[in-house]
Amino acid sequence: MDPVRPARPLVVAHRGSSSVAPQNTLAALEAAWRAGADLVEVDVQRTRDGAVVVLHDDDVDATTDGTGAVADLDLAQVRALDAGAWFSPAYAGQRVPTLAEVLAFLADRPGIGLLLEVKGTWDEDAVRAVTEPVLAAGLGGRVLVQGFDEGTVAALAAVAPGLPRALLVAEVPDDLVERCRALGVVACNPGALALAARPDLVGRLQAEGWRVMVWTLDEPEDWAAAVALGVDAVITDRPDRLRGWLEGR
Ligand code: G3P
Ligand code: CA
Repeated sequence: MDPVRPARPLVVAHRGSSSVAPQNTLAALEAAWRAGADLVEVDVQRTRDGAVVVLHDDDVDATTDGTGAVADLDLAQVRALDAGAWFSPAYAGQRVPTLAEVLAFLADRPGIGLLLEVKGTWDEDAVRAVTEPVLAAGLGGRVLVQGFDEGTVAALAAVAPGLPRALLVAEVPDDLVERCRALGVVACNPGALALAARPDLVGRLQAEGWRVMVWTLDEPEDWAAAVALGVDAVITDRPDRLRGWLEGR
């Protein structure tokens, strides 16, 4: 047993357990917790009136019964939407969660952590709406913030240097290590295609002391390939099955 690295990769529930419940809802988070996920991943966006809500897209069209850009809607309008019926009538009445609700979920379930993706480009003032509630709730040790946008990750570093952060990458630039060093990350999280194209990447990033969390893998053959490469975490829509697969190896 390696005393530093866990015996198995962490199981990260992508947008909650999003294969069995509507993504980025409290129902999906609850399903992830019941499935034994180590972390739950959610995406956050900003409403017109500056509230932080849990939603992947920058509009509400695909995952609610409403239409329009999140940035053009106030929190009350977003909260009035149904975020579950599109997935199944059984989930009608699910709402778009607020960040505060996700933090309350976390506080009630000590066994699970949060991978919190800040979507798009946020400046220092804007990211405080994320970092301040996380730190005020005393949950900093269980939360890893991440983003694709390097300016956003830099803003997170500036306003909350003690909050662990990660850079997401869909493609691997030649100077990825230098970029991650500049951002002071604890993890660098590549997409599956980037990892397949650059199998040396896991070792290069881990040699810097960073964790590598690959997204989004839902099939056993892909889990096997990622585990063989030595990733630290697998982000999946099927945390229940991944957990069972890891334990059955
Ligand atoms: O956590 C990584 C993954 O969620 C990034 O892709 O589009 O699902 O947010 P996306
Ligand atoms: Ca995400």
